[in-house]
Amino acid sequence: MSRVVAVSNRVSVPRRGTAPGGLTVGLMAAMKSRGGLWFGWSGEIDDNATSAVKVVRRGGVTFATVDFTPDELQKYYQGFCNGTLWPLFHYFLGDFHFVDEQFDAYMAVNQRFARELVRQLQPDDVVWVHDYHLLPLAQQLRQAGSDHPIGLFLHIPFPQLESLRALPVYDELLCAMLEYDLVGFQTDRDLKAFLTAVEHLWGPGAITADGVVRVGTHRAQTGCFPIGVDVEGIQGEALKAAPGEACQRLIQGMLGRQLIMGVDRLDYSKGLCERFRAYERFLETHPDSLNRVSFIQIAPLSRSDVQAYAAIRRELEQTAGRINGRFADTDWTPIRYLNKNFPHDVLMAFMRNAPVGLVTPLRDGMNLVAKEFVAAQNAEDPGVLILSTLAGAALELPAALLVNPYDCNGMAEALQQALQMPLAERRDRHASMIEALRRNDIDAWHGRFLDCLREAAQVRHRGTAALRTDAA
Ligand code: F6P
Repeated sequence: MSRVVAVSNRVSVPRRGTAPGGLTVGLMAAMKSRGGLWFGWSGEIDDNATSAVKVVRRGGVTFATVDFTPDELQKYYQGFCNGTLWPLFHYFLGDFHFVDEQFDAYMAVNQRFARELVRQLQPDDVVWVHDYHLLPLAQQLRQAGSDHPIGLFLHIPFPQLESLRALPVYDELLCAMLEYDLVGFQTDRDLKAFLTAVEHLWGPGAITADGVVRVGTHRAQTGCFPIGVDVEGIQGEALKAAPGEACQRLIQGMLGRQLIMGVDRLDYSKGLCERFRAYERFLETHPDSLNRVSFIQIAPLSRSDVQAYAAIRRELEQTAGRINGRFADTDWTPIRYLNKNFPHDVLMAFMRNAPVGLVTPLRDGMNLVAKEFVAAQNAEDPGVLILSTLAGAALELPAALLVNPYDCNGMAEALQQALQMPLAERRDRHASMIEALRRNDIDAWHGRFLDCLREAAQVRHRGTAALRTDAA
């Protein structure tokens, strides 16, 4: 079996005591079962970042990382990735800006990644690129001489054409994306949005019925590959960590109250302010719940140097403070808002103990926390998932209590419904959701993507060979 080379902006070399994000969990599962190389940014900044690649091996996976210069961090990561593409792709046009030199830095980092990566590649490797940071990487890798199968999976939404057009270089980026053999999306909506943009630029003739985009000499297969979770692994983690100190302290601190649980990176797309306000509305309109529930929101800090993230952090602190000031009692803190991170197994144990999981992003490619919450539950007495209709996961989990994250009253009522839901209904909803998760688990996700990528590359190679024969 050929080696899988994963490439993402940030590489998370496994360390104890940290909770990896969705991308990391998904990728580690793919890499562990197949072995391979993971290439990307170390997370470190070095004033004189040389081109030296640091290589370490952990659990059968090789991690090859580079540092960024302060300039790359500021213009590429904070600038074009998280000040331009992130807000645009999540429909936050108010936070979106475009600066030419940040785009230049984005292209330059992609070029630098390609230059370094190509030296690490072996002839039979399959290259799997992840997310919006690296849209032009295949183009740069081809220019650096790579003829490997190269696929891209976009973890975040792909915006509708009318939003996408706000980006002055959207055509350049789309053109670069066609150099991948396979471009994969989380949902059919994202895939359709991409194909609409392709049609806008190159006409309907550029797309074949089976989702292949052909423009000039480029041929890119497209497809929908919703990311899944490791259902059995999560169950095992939750059970293992439940007797541990962290989980026991959480349970004791609840004093028999019902736990409402949220776990998100601190990001404005996660809808945390709206969620806090909905909880406040719930307490206002259901006074019998005072002192009987507790909402714990875990929100590790993220991208703090980007202005919009600092602003949302301030707003959340104020809102949590206001809610506690308004409703707290001598023996009750209505909302506990923690900017700290926990190991993944501890989070799974927390979720298993929560009668309600509150996952209400304003926009999300998938949202793996929603799937993890369902996977972590005890099937005999499962908690209820309240899920935003604007998360990709809602398409696979219609048995969750679906809410519009902007609808304060609707979310407050969903909280009441979840807390009161009879056991039989909770079991039915959970059974239907866990079945969907098992059908499309993490192994199915990477298996399907990599099979499709190999096939797409073979078709390209056959096409190239046929052209050579014709020419001869
Ligand atoms: O889900 C989107 C994403 O950017 C992932 O690619 C990444 O793992 C996660 O969010 C964390 O982002 P960052 O590396 O910017 O902290």
